Amino acid sequence: MRIFMMKGSPHKRGSSNLLAERFAEGAREAGHEVEAFDVAKARIAPCLGCDACRRTGRCRYDDDMAAVRDGLLGSDMAVFVTPLYYFGMSAQLKTAIDRFYAFNAELSGKRLDAALVAAAWDDKDWTMRDLAGHYQTICRYLGLEDRGMVLGAGCGTPAMTGASPLMRKAYDLGRSL
Ligand SMILES: Cc1cc2nc3c(=O)[nH]c(=O)nc-3n(C[C@H](O)[C@H](O)[C@H](O)COP(=O)(O)O)c2cc1C
Repeated sequence: MRIFMMKGSPHKRGSSNLLAERFAEGAREAGHEVEAFDVAKARIAPCLGCDACRRTGRCRYDDDMAAVRDGLLGSDMAVFVTPLYYFGMSAQLKTAIDRFYAFNAELSGKRLDAALVAAAWDDKDWTMRDLAGHYQTICRYLGLEDRGMVLGAGCGTPAMTGASPLMRKAYDLGRSL
């Protein structure tokens, strides 16, 4: 299947991207095609809530979100990659997800599979709770089938992440698809 990965960290070689690379390695070994799109480096404006998309069927912005839309609608699976920022996803990733508003119906109709890959400094049993809950609610709303979460608690730096058993978990999730 085709997997579209939305990477929401400003750190190109940061912790969440390290985990995402391991996930992609496993998925490619299982025969899947993985496209990674760096939403953190893309030009994506925040949703204005103007409802132009509801009236005209098109978002009034002409920016890199068009590539995200095409990537998602041309895929079988969406993977959300993010550092944990104040117990939620990064603003970079959330900005792109808010723009789903312009193609909610098409996206829901695709019944995509989904996964979450995240990295955080802390390693408490509640560190990832709200991010995981938010992701699961988005899956429920958009009709996405959750295939798994790599919740990288204790992955505060690339060195910590590289030494974490979560690297293996990321690979295994990709390989299991
Ligand atoms: C703005 C900001 C907010 C953060 N909020 C949290 C947090 O709520 N909990 C936590 O454990 N770590 C938090 N962190 C730490 C990052 O989640 C952590 O360093 C992560 O590994 C960064 O991933 P990245 O290298 O993929 O960007 C925060 C870091 C920043 C810059």
